[in-house]
Amino acid sequence: MDNFIFYNPTRLIFGKDMIARLSQEIPADKRIMITFGGGSVKTNGVYEQVTQALEGRDYTEFWGIESNPDISTLKKAIELGKEKNIDFLLAVGGGSVIDGTKLIAAGILYDGDAWELVKKGNAQYTIPLGTVLTIPATGSEMNNGAVISCRETHEKYPFFSHHPVFSILDPTVTFSLPDYQIACGLADTFVHVMEQYLTKTNESSLMDRWSESILRTLVQIAPQIKENKQDYHLMSEFMISATMALNGFIAMGVSEDWATHMIGHELTALHGMTHGQTLAIVFPGTLRTLADKKRDKILQYGERIWGVTSGVPSVRISLTIEKTEDFFKKLGLKTRLDEAGIGDDTIEEIVRRFNERNAAYGEDGDVTGEVVRQILQNCK
Ligand code: NZQ
Ligand code: ZN
Repeated sequence: MDNFIFYNPTRLIFGKDMIARLSQEIPADKRIMITFGGGSVKTNGVYEQVTQALEGRDYTEFWGIESNPDISTLKKAIELGKEKNIDFLLAVGGGSVIDGTKLIAAGILYDGDAWELVKKGNAQYTIPLGTVLTIPATGSEMNNGAVISCRETHEKYPFFSHHPVFSILDPTVTFSLPDYQIACGLADTFVHVMEQYLTKTNESSLMDRWSESILRTLVQIAPQIKENKQDYHLMSEFMISATMALNGFIAMGVSEDWATHMIGHELTALHGMTHGQTLAIVFPGTLRTLADKKRDKILQYGERIWGVTSGVPSVRISLTIEKTEDFFKKLGLKTRLDEAGIGDDTIEEIVRRFNERNAAYGEDGDVTGEVVRQILQNCK
């Protein structure tokens, strides 16, 4: 196990009717800005619950943070936040609203152009942020990361600052989610675990078992959620799985990969593809390409998650990758670039970008532009 520092200060507030606790969680003297997405919260009762809980408090609303939050929208929020002297942010929505609000939290205290912060990749000074999560997927509710897009230049980059001070997770608010968003959220959660698990063997039994417990839970609940997406118990399991998949718990002292995510971000930047959908296409291709390098861990994963125990290693590995792709297919997602109408021109553009940035991901930092080309060719 490698050395590590673990720090996660987010207060997790979980369960039905917990949105009512907002007034206790945000100090009474704060000038709050509440940030929202496109309006789903107006039709599922979340907006009423939030505004009721904050009745009589000093708050401003900011609407319209889109999926894959765009820098131009966030700059408007930053301007409004500065104008109103906002000193507390409440993000009500999914990963996009929360991520966007993490940048707003830094941008309000920054004199320059907020895109500079994104290009720099981090910010130290932020105003405090709480969240009401409406879709299980990204883990943004309990981590210090964000991913910010610029549609004008077709770019999308990670940005790191501070964790939310609290996050409220009420599984009943997920009952209004469209099937496609649930599928993308399940795929995202699954691949978050894989980016931290499917690397090297024998680094930590405990981390492996924690990761495997999340993967097995997802494999178990995914078909059940398809049958009944308004089941409180199932959606609770989904919601907490998504949070635990990317809040630092399963990454203690172990290697991490993230090549699939970085390639996926390019597919979103260039084609607007939903985040979870990009991963369902890229991840099986990553496994096919790096099967030799990741051999022992794929064998462990195949055995413990899919019960693949017989046959020679090469056969077990192929079957395990097939089962992984099949999991995404059964969610209703595409698993090949061809299905999404994406061809060689996009592959070459992504390789060009990786080369230009001297990018190298993967647990050993050897997934360079050339390897990315092989991965994407293996996603056709
Ligand atoms: O905007 P509204 O109208 O609210 O609709 C949203 C949006 O259209 C809708 N939705 C959310 N909750 C709903 C709902 N519809 C009905 N009922 C509800 N309860 O769902 C759509 C998708 O929302 P979005 O926030 O975009 O989804 P998600 O949480 O998957 O976030 C995706 C973004 O997070 C980034 C992705 O790259 C992408 O930009 N990620 C952030 C990470 C992080 N911060 O750690 C890690 C991830 O790997 C990921 O990259
Ligand atoms: Zn993700």
